[in-house]
Amino acid sequence: MPTGSAPNRSIQPKSSEGLREARFRGMKPTIIGLLTIVLLSVLTGYWLIFVRVTNAGLTFENELQIPEQAFGNVVDGRRQFHLTVAEGTREFLPGKQTLTAGVNGPYLGPTLRLRRGEDVDLTVQNDLDEMTTMHWHGMHVPARMDGTPHQKIEPGASWTASFEVHQEAAPLWYHPHPHGATGRQVYRGVSGLMWIDDDESDALDLPKTYGVDDIPLVIQDREFDSDGAFRFAVNQGAVYGNTMLVNGTWSPFLRVEARRIRFRLLNGSNARIYYIGFDDGREFHQIATDGGFLEAPLQANRVKLAPGERAEILVDFSDGAEVVLKSYPEAGIVETIGSYLGGIGTGHLQFLKVVPQPPSRVSHGLPERLNSIPRMDAAQAAKTRPMVLAGPLQRGPGGLGGQGGRGGPGGQGGRGRRAGALGIPINGKIMDMARIDEVVRLGDIEIWEVSNRGGQPHPFHVHLVQFQILDRNGRPPSAAELGWKDTVLVPPGDLVRIIMRFERYADPQVPYMYHCHIMEHEDNGMMGQFLVVEDPALLSDSPSHVAGG
Ligand code: C2O
Ligand code: CU
Ligand code: CU
Repeated sequence: MPTGSAPNRSIQPKSSEGLREARFRGMKPTIIGLLTIVLLSVLTGYWLIFVRVTNAGLTFENELQIPEQAFGNVVDGRRQFHLTVAEGTREFLPGKQTLTAGVNGPYLGPTLRLRRGEDVDLTVQNDLDEMTTMHWHGMHVPARMDGTPHQKIEPGASWTASFEVHQEAAPLWYHPHPHGATGRQVYRGVSGLMWIDDDESDALDLPKTYGVDDIPLVIQDREFDSDGAFRFAVNQGAVYGNTMLVNGTWSPFLRVEARRIRFRLLNGSNARIYYIGFDDGREFHQIATDGGFLEAPLQANRVKLAPGERAEILVDFSDGAEVVLKSYPEAGIVETIGSYLGGIGTGHLQFLKVVPQPPSRVSHGLPERLNSIPRMDAAQAAKTRPMVLAGPLQRGPGGLGGQGGRGGPGGQGGRGRRAGALGIPINGKIMDMARIDEVVRLGDIEIWEVSNRGGQPHPFHVHLVQFQILDRNGRPPSAAELGWKDTVLVPPGDLVRIIMRFERYADPQVPYMYHCHIMEHEDNGMMGQFLVVEDPALLSDSPSHVAGG
């Protein structure tokens, strides 16, 4: 209220000046020191939040690479794909060769196009010199086909995943999942996109021309040694790079027609969380989350993506202006300074310059309705399971006995090297491939209460299902979180309730995973295993026969 506050403002300086004078007379040097520190912190925070660009100086001279599409071959009514994982080399930085690994190429892999209702066979040939697996992140598949740490592919061997595509149009992805080495293999370049289409998505008036107005954007941070080699350095328990790659392109630009363009974003980074927007602050519409379309386009100027999460956005470039897609620091001086002190530096990061060209056709409209997402109701849940992230370590097997004391709040955030090496528990336990943690009854709806008792955010991922977010700290989810999700970011102190239906694929022997999608956390044991069975009562107490299928 301008009229009410104006008189106050003119009075206050006098009284507070008087106070300040009184305080100055009695002030001890320590207070001056403290005030100086506070002032410097605020200034530093301001600089970090509003000024400093972590990867400044990009000239955006490299044309954005668009991964090839793969449609497979239809043989006997089954769509068959062949994926070969192998090492390679790639020039990311000018004049420097980087040793990489990729799928059917040196870095990343083809965008697999699947259709709801189709049967698919995905054959993965491992030409690496180490064991790998291939996981279809977000796909609703039988446990034996899920490519978890249990479906090992030894060097020189191959493995085939066969399943029917049962779910709606969605921007999924695939990546290796060998326990303890997921982060390293993904960091070298092994992952790719996997997009599902269906009749509903066909019918929507959306940009669908791959690489022209329907653009895949795989966002990854990397660190390079001076000779061009990837540096895989664990800091604060995970790997954070200072150099951005989009689809494996450093300092990229993309020419698009000056009309509405669809970006399908994947945070394919090992650990870094992004707050994605444009440098001119322009608004766009989010149209999809991890597992499918939102009910209606959602106007926004930021989309937050943790590792493993996806979003689709529609951006109007009809003004013809060049803009940079980037990540902003999440507002908050304390967090920003903290991240810098920790060496992570979640500052401004530039991704991609978009260069609009004269359009060859009129723009697609903005559909009013995209999907219908019937809400699951807490009252339908047969069971509620707690999922405590980063709480105290349990004593005994699986919990690294005797280390229970290290689990205090904040202490178990994976801070520092020791905590990272020790592992961050879920429900007090570190991943044990021979232990089943949870048994779910086929057909049940369940609520999982995911609470973060540590000092850093953890993106929680559940295999097999797409879930809905019931609430966050008792409050309804934001509009961007009303879509289908398979990964949800849980910041320190938050309690997020997710609800999901386990409608298919009982297997009393082969488990699915749930885990933090910060890959170094996952590799260090921040993961658990669940079975889906027809009747939990029929299972022996300890299913010691965990099988890979
Ligand atoms: Cu991308 Cu087990 O996950
Ligand atoms: Cu997954
Ligand atoms: Cu984590």
